[in-house]
Amino acid sequence: MTGRGEAELPTVHQAQGAVTKNVGLRGVTVADTAVSHVDGRAGRLLYRGYAIDVLAERSSYEEVAYLLIMGDMPTPGELEAFRAELGARRVLTAGEVDLLRAFCLDNRPMEVLQAVTAVLAAGDIAPAITTDKETERRRALGLTAKMASLTAAWHRVRQGLDPVPAEPGLGHAADFLRMLHAADPDPALARDMDVALILHADHSMNASTFVARSVTSTRAHIYAAVSAALGALSGELHGGANSRVMEMLEEIGDPEQAEPYVRARLEVGERIMGMGHAVYATDDPRAIILREMARRAGERVGDPRWYEITRRVQEATQRLFRERKGGEIYPNVDLYSASLYHVMGIPRDLFTPVFAVSRVAGWSAHVIEERFAEVQGKPQLYRPLSDYVGRYCGPESCEYVPLERRG
Ligand code: COA
Repeated sequence: MTGRGEAELPTVHQAQGAVTKNVGLRGVTVADTAVSHVDGRAGRLLYRGYAIDVLAERSSYEEVAYLLIMGDMPTPGELEAFRAELGARRVLTAGEVDLLRAFCLDNRPMEVLQAVTAVLAAGDIAPAITTDKETERRRALGLTAKMASLTAAWHRVRQGLDPVPAEPGLGHAADFLRMLHAADPDPALARDMDVALILHADHSMNASTFVARSVTSTRAHIYAAVSAALGALSGELHGGANSRVMEMLEEIGDPEQAEPYVRARLEVGERIMGMGHAVYATDDPRAIILREMARRAGERVGDPRWYEITRRVQEATQRLFRERKGGEIYPNVDLYSASLYHVMGIPRDLFTPVFAVSRVAGWSAHVIEERFAEVQGKPQLYRPLSDYVGRYCGPESCEYVPLERRG
């Protein structure tokens, strides 16, 4: 059923003070935020004022998670306490492990994470909706801790293995890799993971963050908001792109095949995963850092092929895109993270969960900002409008025809 039917629809939106329509909210500012800033023209990303390249070089994921969740850089003592609590909260309870064991072994990891995150609310003794910012921050920290251990534990459980218990004294990234592989990680690869987590931790009003904030605006709790955000992240146009990039690299298989692959895909109007961005009109600063990390990591483990295929995919896409559309396209955060995670021994279907292991800190920071109205310029409740283009029979509405008289 399409079209408006017989009568003209009244323009109620104007009466409600509607502004110009913008399908998909492109170019529409829906809130102010102090959490992060993307300058798409200059290719800059700031977390609470700090440039992403400086954080990637000098900081740790724990420090960045503190910055996002608590609102400022920690002192040495604050960081130590935060690290200790993050480590302690990585330890899963027996109930949480039992919960994982209740899933079908072929459930996809993002589905498991989304479901388990929603259920974590049950383990919280405080009322789900809190008016105490410190309680909400502790929940954010707990969610950040658990996202890593749940991801690693699910990978073990689905193989019929016992989860590897967290080691609270280790760094978050190193412990995540250790829990995943049941082996101490190469320190250089652990640092690469630390940097990858820093790079994915926040990105202003992206699709999953908007979802988290929108859920929070209804006064639902943080577990509901993060669970919903996980669902949004799983899609291939968002966080799901990194595992689709790896699928593409495996399909290409040989650097020489990158160009013909890209050409064939573009010819039938398909998208090249890991390329393009809704906000950046130049290089994504995260992709620049990840590209070098992927190159180094590939060489370090003696498997440079995946980096090489990725590099050629980038070059071919940019050249052919320019020829076809006369414009530029750039790699996004998902292009080079794929080969990086692959040479770290991370299975392809865990790439998006790794994104979530990082982004949970950013979502949480936005939830806190939303819940406690930390900045002005935000709505009480996100409630956009839509233009109704369906059947309309005038003020009396359409006649209901009983089922037996239809058809
Ligand atoms: N490969 C090929 N063409 C692409 C493309 C890609 N990755 N990304 C965008 N385009 C093309 C579109 O086909 C469209 O062409 P058209 O105008 O002839 O129809 C044009 O560029 C604009 O596309 P649009 O979807 O409006 O651009 P956008 O900037 O809003 O898209 C993404 C942003 C991320 C959705 C898009 O680039 C994409 O789908 N990328 C692949 C998925 C991905 O890597 N997602 C992770 C994002 S971090």
